[in-house]
Amino acid sequence: MAVEQEYIVEFQGITKRYKTKQSLFGRGTKEVTALEDLDLGICRGEIFGLVGESGSGKTTAGRLLVKLEDPTEGSLVVEGTDINQLKGRALREFRRKVQMIFQDPYQSLNPQVSIFEAVCEPLVIHGIGTPDTRVDMVSEMLSLVGLSPPEDFFHRFPHQLSGGQRQRVAIARAMILRPSLLVADEPTSMLDASISAQIFNILLEMRERFGVTILFITHSLAAARYLCDRLGVIYKGRLMELGPSGTLISGPRHPYTQALIDALPKFGQCGSVVRYNTLLEREREGFKEGLSSGNARCCPFFPRCRRGEEDPCGLSVPSLENLAPGHMVRCYFASLVPGQGVALDTDAGQGGKCYYGT
Ligand SMILES: Nc1ncnc2c1ncn2[C@@H]1O[C@H](COP(=O)(O)OP(=O)(O)O)[C@@H](O)[C@H]1O
Ligand code: SF4
Ligand SMILES: [Mg+2]
Repeated sequence: MAVEQEYIVEFQGITKRYKTKQSLFGRGTKEVTALEDLDLGICRGEIFGLVGESGSGKTTAGRLLVKLEDPTEGSLVVEGTDINQLKGRALREFRRKVQMIFQDPYQSLNPQVSIFEAVCEPLVIHGIGTPDTRVDMVSEMLSLVGLSPPEDFFHRFPHQLSGGQRQRVAIARAMILRPSLLVADEPTSMLDASISAQIFNILLEMRERFGVTILFITHSLAAARYLCDRLGVIYKGRLMELGPSGTLISGPRHPYTQALIDALPKFGQCGSVVRYNTLLEREREGFKEGLSSGNARCCPFFPRCRRGEEDPCGLSVPSLENLAPGHMVRCYFASLVPGQGVALDTDAGQGGKCYYGT
């Protein structure tokens, strides 16, 4: 039976465009669309994985959510409030309850600030606790992220720690404010596999203990599979497939999700990785000549798609359709995957609810 919950976050028709210089010496500007008409809800208490290759718009989505930037179009609603409208006290409270950790912990840790000061600083900024109680709060949080005994770390500096320890400090600094929402942008992509697993377990522990909702951004479907309740697969700024992790991993319906799964290393097999790389090669060589993925009139994945047909894929952008409750796919042929035969259900999963769980 599906579990039904309200969303804590709603991206409502979010588009983000950047203006960039045409070339190093050129005077003209061109526009890059990092996110295109993104509609996405994240449920309270879930770990939601946003998965896609480099340049697909994942970090942009995270930066908009913590209000480091504003959208070009659309509304971003957090706990029922459009964050574009936030000012003064309400904005300050938003900054407390929504936190972000980055791929490189140095983005949140000042190299010249001790670990104690780094973790304590948010408490001081938000006027939480007294000098004495803050020591206890920092100790407790460092212990929770596995930096123990905490006093041994108080006077160290980021450069005296390993990469994994620095990421633990970044998590402690973010979680000391007991946020309701944490954006984790590729937090383990600079770490090796065993250290990454430890960081995942800390994030799971944070969700368990504090009920924090996590937007986990990653290029790795393997990482997302381990950690996330639901996944959104994003490609060139558009959501391509959305659903429970198990459903997407075991029964992907979008050719891009399928390609990402094919690229997952399997025991004694490297052919699938070669197949995925071949797709990339074909795109670079101008596969399906005359159409680029920048063509606004065609499916963004058409230049790389093995299943695509000129009509309709090359002529218009498919919309994100419900395939089953909570499972949405942006592909004209999503319901025609051989051997699966689930009909399109345009009513399921609508109405401000999300469906995941048992
Ligand atoms: N500040 C910026 N100025 C111009 N272009 C940007 C900026 N930030 C991101 N982009 C562009 O937006 C697209 C999405 O970037 P990003 O969100 O960083 O993707 P991802 O995190 O998935 O790698 C890319 O084409 C990137 O070059
Ligand atoms: S709509 Fe067509 S081109 Fe796009 S992913 Fe589906 S089959 Fe491929
Ligand atoms: Mg990124």
